[in-house]
Amino acid sequence: MKATARAHTNIALIKYWGKRDEQLFLPMNNSISITLDQFYTTTSVTFQDDLASDVFVLDGVELGGAEQNKISTFLDLVRKTTKHHGYAVVESSNNVPTAAGFASSASGFAALAAASTKALGYEISDAGLSILARQGSGSACRSIYGGFVEWHMGEKNDGTDSFATQLLSEEDWQLSIISVMVEAKQKKVLSREGMKRTVETSPFYDGWLASLEPDLLATRAAIANRTFEQLGTVLERNAMKMHATTLGANPPFMYWMSSTIEVMQAVQELREDGIQAYFTIDAGPNVKVICQPADERVVMDRLKQLMCVKDLFLCHPGPGIHYLTT
Ligand code: PMV
Repeated sequence: MKATARAHTNIALIKYWGKRDEQLFLPMNNSISITLDQFYTTTSVTFQDDLASDVFVLDGVELGGAEQNKISTFLDLVRKTTKHHGYAVVESSNNVPTAAGFASSASGFAALAAASTKALGYEISDAGLSILARQGSGSACRSIYGGFVEWHMGEKNDGTDSFATQLLSEEDWQLSIISVMVEAKQKKVLSREGMKRTVETSPFYDGWLASLEPDLLATRAAIANRTFEQLGTVLERNAMKMHATTLGANPPFMYWMSSTIEVMQAVQELREDGIQAYFTIDAGPNVKVICQPADERVVMDRLKQLMCVKDLFLCHPGPGIHYLTT
């Protein structure tokens, strides 16, 4: 009754921003991401008859409270799906620079979905796993697959058609993704709360939604044809628009710090010098810079010169979920 799975984090090129159903984690829009090779979570799940509740151990430390609750709530869903009634020990380790604020719920819930179903010997398709992982954290549904991935929002109210599929494998297009750490502190407005407030109060949210279809079409085409400049232009524009919606929320909020803007401007300057580099930002101050492998050294060197940059991590497209023998 034990299995171990590994899942990698992903970075959205077209952002998931806003839910139409909070309980089922149904998004307002499709999103597209790249799975990253360097950042991942490895999780072992052991179902045991002698337990009175689930046990969660993260990086060797047993956690209680809200952390343990999140895991238990997710395992309740697994128990409901698989019709199994026992509790489990969940042991996770993050190969993510957690102190750098890059810890991701995406790799965590994707690994947990895979390991828990495997431990119970439950047959599940990739789409089924994606649907399950989605209910732990929306972006986790994309971490089931490697390379370039699209999460289809679906049309139904029960969530059965809201899952991700792979657009292109990690071997099919080599890109460089540089995670730029400017601030290690925990973000102030969590993505769940940020999305909700934006959907409910931002007058810019309708504009965001209305502008997505062309971004999605251009991104799919850029991935299919491996046209980097087209991809970069759209992903940077999309990130800017997502962050613009937060400025219109009530009360307004922003994820950027002055150091975030410094990095953004350095990337724009690189382009003025003829180097194709583009940025994207999630629900926090750190920046991801995307370029082609031939330019990664130049881009890294330029970013290193910025006083505000605390650390840089170089990633490439990485694999989907896989199981480890224990
Ligand atoms: O799934 P969550 O709650 O981690 O939300 C992810 C939100 C963004 O990172 C901002 C966008 C995305 O698509 O990953």
